[in-house]
Amino acid sequence: TAPIIRRLADLRNLTARWRAEGARIGVVPTMGALHVGHLSLVEAAKTGADRVIVTIFVNPKQFNNPDDLANYPRTEESDAAKLAPFAVDAIYVPDPDQVYPDGFATTVSVSGVSEGLCGAHRPGHFDGVATVVTKLLLQTQADRAYFGEKDFQQLMVVRRLVSDLDIPVEIVGCPTVREPDGLALSSRNVRLSDVARSKAPALYASLTEAAGAIADGTPVARALAAARAAVLAGGYSDVEYLELRSSTTLAPLDAPTEPARLLVAAHLDGVRLIDNVALCTI
Ligand code: PAJ
Repeated sequence: TAPIIRRLADLRNLTARWRAEGARIGVVPTMGALHVGHLSLVEAAKTGADRVIVTIFVNPKQFNNPDDLANYPRTEESDAAKLAPFAVDAIYVPDPDQVYPDGFATTVSVSGVSEGLCGAHRPGHFDGVATVVTKLLLQTQADRAYFGEKDFQQLMVVRRLVSDLDIPVEIVGCPTVREPDGLALSSRNVRLSDVARSKAPALYASLTEAAGAIADGTPVARALAAARAAVLAGGYSDVEYLELRSSTTLAPLDAPTEPARLLVAAHLDGVRLIDNVALCTI
């Protein structure tokens, strides 16, 4: 199995050797509790890079809710076991002081794409994500880094910061992996009761229905209102947002005049779930 590395100095020894050999390094940043969605990124990294590092770090700075942080699953042993078949080259599980040493005082804050959607409902979340992803990219010296479209706004934030800060890494976005009934895989799904789990597919079903309606010419406002009603009728208690946004800039759209994405966040059984789908347009 892959070595588990906890200190930055040890990681640097490895990456320096790999770089001297001319190997291209791929990184898959995660917070652990790995599922098949994460593993699809690992598979993509194995194809796109010579050496693959999976990082596992539950980043306190991106949790706006202390209970959510305390309850976040920590399953290092089973994570390592799930990675074994992929023969990754290193699992980087940094000790907290390797990421945030005493006196740490820097925040990476991306404006624009981090505003609205999840940014409006989770204050400080994307600053925490941007700061830790910047550190992980610099610590791993990766040539390519793999992120899921499941967290579409996060992917946009990462693309923006890498471009703005001239970090020499290629960001690769990977499609959302779903259960057979359409529910997007998420570490939070295990918190759903059996009854809630049976209702959960309503989120994706409502999104795909609305995407189809908009592609067929239904006015966006009407399609979004119908989708919101369908999510609530499906058993969700609260729709935080359900919006049509540009796929490239995340700017709000009131008509599908450019490549677009429908994005949603809603609560089910006290669990906050997010999802998004692409809209096929002209
Ligand atoms: P985490 O939630 O563990 O997700 C790690 C990566 O897996 C992210 O890029 C996420 O988009 C991707 N992912 C999650 N579910 C997926 C699915 N069903 N299909 C495809 N990809 C999926 O996102 C984070 O961690 C953190 O914010 C992190 C980027 C590691 C920074 O702390």
